[in-house]
Amino acid sequence: MRRRIDDKWEFLEQWDDAFLTGSVSGVPVRLPHNVQQLPLHYADHEAYQTICGYRRKLYVSARENDRRHFLVFDGAAHNAVVYCNGVEVGDHHNGYTGFRIEITDALRPYEYNDIVVKLDTTENGSVPPFGGAIDYLTYGGIYRHVWHEIRPREYLQDIYITTPTLKTVDIALSYTKDNPEKEAKISIIDDNERTVACFLSEAASGHIVMTVAEAKSWSPEDPHVYTCRVESEDDVLETTFGFKQLVLDDTRMYLNGKPYFIRGLNRHQCYPYLGYAASDALEAEDARILKEELGVNAVRTSHYPQSHAFLDACDRLGLLVFMEIPGWQHLGDEDWKDQAVINTYEMVTQYRNHVSIFLWGVRINESLDDDEFYRRTNLLAHQLDPSRPTSGVRYLEKSHLLEDVYAFNDFSHKGDNAGVRSRKDVMPDVERPLLITEANGHMFPTKAFDPWSRRQEHALRHARVLNDAMLDEYHMGCFQWCMFDYQTHKDFGSGDRICYHGVLDAFRNPKLAAALYASQSDAKPVLEVGSSMDIGDYPGGVIGEIYAFTNADEVRLYKNGNYVQSFRGSAYTALPHGPVLIDDTIGCLLEQHEDMHGAQEKLVREALLAAGRYGLAGLPVKYKADLAWCMTRYRMPYSKGVELYGKYVASWGGDSVAWRFDAIKDGEVVASVTKAPSAKLHLEAKPNTLKMKDSDTYDISAVRIAVKDEFGNSAPYAQLPVTLRVNGPAVLIGPETIVLEGGMGGAYLATAGRSGTAELSLSSPGLETVKLIFEIEKEGEEQ
Ligand code: GAL
Repeated sequence: MRRRIDDKWEFLEQWDDAFLTGSVSGVPVRLPHNVQQLPLHYADHEAYQTICGYRRKLYVSARENDRRHFLVFDGAAHNAVVYCNGVEVGDHHNGYTGFRIEITDALRPYEYNDIVVKLDTTENGSVPPFGGAIDYLTYGGIYRHVWHEIRPREYLQDIYITTPTLKTVDIALSYTKDNPEKEAKISIIDDNERTVACFLSEAASGHIVMTVAEAKSWSPEDPHVYTCRVESEDDVLETTFGFKQLVLDDTRMYLNGKPYFIRGLNRHQCYPYLGYAASDALEAEDARILKEELGVNAVRTSHYPQSHAFLDACDRLGLLVFMEIPGWQHLGDEDWKDQAVINTYEMVTQYRNHVSIFLWGVRINESLDDDEFYRRTNLLAHQLDPSRPTSGVRYLEKSHLLEDVYAFNDFSHKGDNAGVRSRKDVMPDVERPLLITEANGHMFPTKAFDPWSRRQEHALRHARVLNDAMLDEYHMGCFQWCMFDYQTHKDFGSGDRICYHGVLDAFRNPKLAAALYASQSDAKPVLEVGSSMDIGDYPGGVIGEIYAFTNADEVRLYKNGNYVQSFRGSAYTALPHGPVLIDDTIGCLLEQHEDMHGAQEKLVREALLAAGRYGLAGLPVKYKADLAWCMTRYRMPYSKGVELYGKYVASWGGDSVAWRFDAIKDGEVVASVTKAPSAKLHLEAKPNTLKMKDSDTYDISAVRIAVKDEFGNSAPYAQLPVTLRVNGPAVLIGPETIVLEGGMGGAYLATAGRSGTAELSLSSPGLETVKLIFEIEKEGEEQ
């Protein structure tokens, strides 16, 4: 039995020994808790570094008195010492894995017991990931759940599940003592809560292999999750798992017998203002965004284990996960390494039943080779979980490969060269698969408010890397950097301590590059165009190349309602749906509106398009000659050429144009984008939910905010202030006035312990106010 105890904690920001005895008190808080709320820009990493205290009462009833009691912390950043009634009962030194501490002997029955946690949130160099510079903030606090676990004197300790075949399950049961004279009933339950297999084992320990005739396998495309429940006389334990088979050969990965290419992004676990302290629903929302909005099939939890809530969502939604031990480039002394080995142990034993995990990262991200150390982490991961391969992320070429997969951060792409490096240049002389674990990122930081040309190039760089990795038979997949913009230390980022490396902004709003990912999936129609078509936004009014990011068969272009041309196919041939170059904005317009045909139409059109690309002054000789020939042959005066240039290329001084792009799939228009001048802006607010549940802790809704024009396009230069007001039983986490960046922003609304209706109003000068109504239910309260 376990119950969550996220409520009724007291928090003391600066530790005082008197907190242990109760003579100093703190402020009431609920978990997950973030020690210090930071501003989005220019956040100070010193601000969250403290030695603080958390305290809570824990009542143990008479009935529970003969049992064993544990506290389970899912995550406390970073060094914790736990006391029960003033007695030190345990400690833990990793902010990214859970820990379990027995308090039975320190408890006083029939009483309120004092639980105190002394938490060091400093970036203390004696444990990973600390000791060197780190490109992300590490926040602080008891930022995941805490549980009170009550077990019999002897109990079921752990279940570890593997699936030797797609129809058999191997259940390794451990009990507190060997050969317990206890039977165990084992049930396998499917995702519709039907028991599909059941077995009565004579012993509640050891290996039990069961056949599940109707088992459905797990894959990102069709993710089936099962529960294994083990019941002994007075105890019960359960875990989810899935039927999955993973095989590697020299070059690639096979999932359930079929070659499988990883198409993923890196994810940090941070949020503006919240730091690491997100609710389970928000964690699951990130998995949903990756899966449904970005269409990827995999995620790397850079650079540490992330919450079970996130992993559960990856299991259920279908995302492969590469999880790694905490660390960033720096390697410490022997004690530090011993702690990293403990971290490896905790990571594998705590997460190995998540079916979504396909690879363990047993190196410190981008550290130097250290064979002795990495032999330990690698061996341990293999011993604890023989069912999965290992890897470790390096930026080094030809580093020693002790693991099964060579994971390499390939930052070689600069825009005009190949997207990826070859296996022979990168890997030592071994035949193992090569996995790109990062690309782009700092090579091309891109803000949501950067000009169109930069945002389009950002999307194209992601396309080039992915395309070239898919083309090359030696790459088993590619994770790029990264899912969203994140806060960082002073040594990184754009001066405001943000790394603008995301395909989403920090609030999870899409930049253009998000459309590159979304368009690789066929789940729903996607069409985004990499230009506003506003000549005034481009040097000399020359828009240059325009790409459509779509999963349709064809894009049809219309100018002021007149059909121009249709575009299909992509130079990015390995991608399921490569970006489509829109390289002819004149199309059939000369034929239809200028009465030009045959060779004349062709030569004039090509010369005009070239003038668009190179500018009139830079027009290559070939086109000048073609134009001169047309003038003579068809008696076209020079002024006609200038008029056509103004009309079809750079209509500087002319009326602006309305462009429409229709995405066509199977002959039907499935999406349409109109780029035309608009002065009618409106605010949009998209909450991840309007229904919240306040339980032992608060619930959070994340609201994504955007300014759009009348055609539904985002207005990237609308850097407008938005005032947020809350009425009812909810509170805003973060400032009440924000400024949209790239026409986008966000807000977090948390429940305040009561049921009712809360209203969030968003207003910006000159725009219509938007109101969101949230229904809040208080668990256990009469409705
Ligand atoms: C890598 C590092 C990431 C991030 C990225 C930025 O070197 O592993 O954490 O800093 O660079 O591109």
